[in-house]
Amino acid sequence: MQRIYLDHNATTPLDPRVVEAMTGALAGTYGNPSSLHWFGQQARAAVEEARESVARLVGAQPAEIVFTASGTEADNMALRGVALAQREPRGRLLVSAIEHHAVLHCARALAEEGWPVETVRVTSAGLVDLEDLERKLEAGAALVAVMLANNETGVVQPLGDVVRLAHARGALVLCDAVQAVGKLSVDVRALDIDLLALSAHKFYGPKGVGALYVRRGTRLKAFVRGGAQERNRRAGTENVAGVVGLGCAARIAREELAREPPREAVLRDALEERLLAIAGARRNGDGARVSNTTNLSFDGIEAESLVMALDLAGLAVSSGAACAAGAVEPSHVLRAMGLPPALVQASVRFSLGRGTTREEIEEAAALVEQAVARQRARRR
Ligand SMILES: Cc1ncc(COP(=O)(O)O)c(C=O)c1O
Repeated sequence: MQRIYLDHNATTPLDPRVVEAMTGALAGTYGNPSSLHWFGQQARAAVEEARESVARLVGAQPAEIVFTASGTEADNMALRGVALAQREPRGRLLVSAIEHHAVLHCARALAEEGWPVETVRVTSAGLVDLEDLERKLEAGAALVAVMLANNETGVVQPLGDVVRLAHARGALVLCDAVQAVGKLSVDVRALDIDLLALSAHKFYGPKGVGALYVRRGTRLKAFVRGGAQERNRRAGTENVAGVVGLGCAARIAREELAREPPREAVLRDALEERLLAIAGARRNGDGARVSNTTNLSFDGIEAESLVMALDLAGLAVSSGAACAAGAVEPSHVLRAMGLPPALVQASVRFSLGRGTTREEIEEAAALVEQAVARQRARRR
C-alpha cells in the first residue's frame, strides 16, 4: 500500500542531508565538546557551527541560542527560568489558552508551587484576545507566553501587538515558535521577542533536540544543574549528533523558506477546497495561517474513528481531539475557541510537508470523502 503522510505538525521525516550530517557526527565526532584536546575541539566546532545556523534562521546572535533536549524543554526552561529568576513579590505569568501543553502544564505546575498564573482568552478565530491580554496586563506581569503559530489550527498569532502590550508593562515575552520555524520567516529582532522556543523534529531534523533563544541580558535561572555547558544555562554534555542535525535542518529550512511554504499553501488550499465541499464540513481557525495546516470538522463524525479508518486506507492524519498518541482528551485549543463539544470531537487536522505531492492530495481528498460518507451511512 502506498501510504500518505499528512501529519507533519506531529513530526517530520528526517531530510536525507540531515541523516548524512548526523551519521558523520555519530561515527566520527565523538569527542566531548568540553575537552581541550583535538577530539573535543572537533566536537566543539560542530556544535558551534550548528549554533550559528540556528541563530541565522531566527535572526539571533549565536551566544543567544541554548540547545535543549526538545521544544518542551525549551518552553519549560523559559517559563521556569524566568519565574525562578524573579525577586519577591512574584510577578504574574500570563499564558494564552491555546498554548501547547509544554507551556500550559509547566505553567500549571508553577501555579501549584505558588506562582500567580493567568490564562489569556482567544477569539473564535483562534487568535489571542488582545483586549483580554491588555486587561490582564494592567496589574503587571513578569512574562507573557504566546505561540507564533498554533499546532492544531495553524493560526498565526499577532506577536507584534502582544510584544508591544507586554513590553509597555515591563513583561518579558516567550514565543513558542515550534510550529512556525521552517514555515514562516522568524526574526527575533523584528519581533522584539525575549525568549523563543524551537524544535528540530518539526522541520526535518531529529527528535529529542531543540533550542531556546534567550535575548542577551534576559535574567533566567538554570534548572538543570551540573557542568558549565551552554554558558551555565543548561548543564549536561551536549547531544553532538542531535545538535549537528538541528543545525543542518536549520540551514536547509532557511534555504527552502522562499520556495516551499508557497508550494504547500497551494496544495493545502486545494485539499481544503475539496473537503469543505463535503456537506457539514467547516474550517476551524481563521485569518493568517501557516501554509501547511488545515483543521476541519465534519458534522456528525467521530474524528477518532475517522482517523483510524483513514489509517487503514493508508492516510495518516490526526484528530483534533488527541494531542498525544492515545489521548482522547478533547482539544483544549478548539474548546478555547468556543467550538461546541460535538464539533471538537468531529475535528481532523491535516498537515502537509516537503514530500507532499499533488497526486497525494487528490488521493487523500478522495479517501476522506469516502470515509466520511461511510461513517455517516453507518450512523444512519
Ligand atoms: C507548539 C508546540 N510547542 C511545543 C511542542 C513540543 O516540542 P517537542 O516535541 O520537541 O517536545 C510541540 C510539539 O508538538 C508544539 O507543537
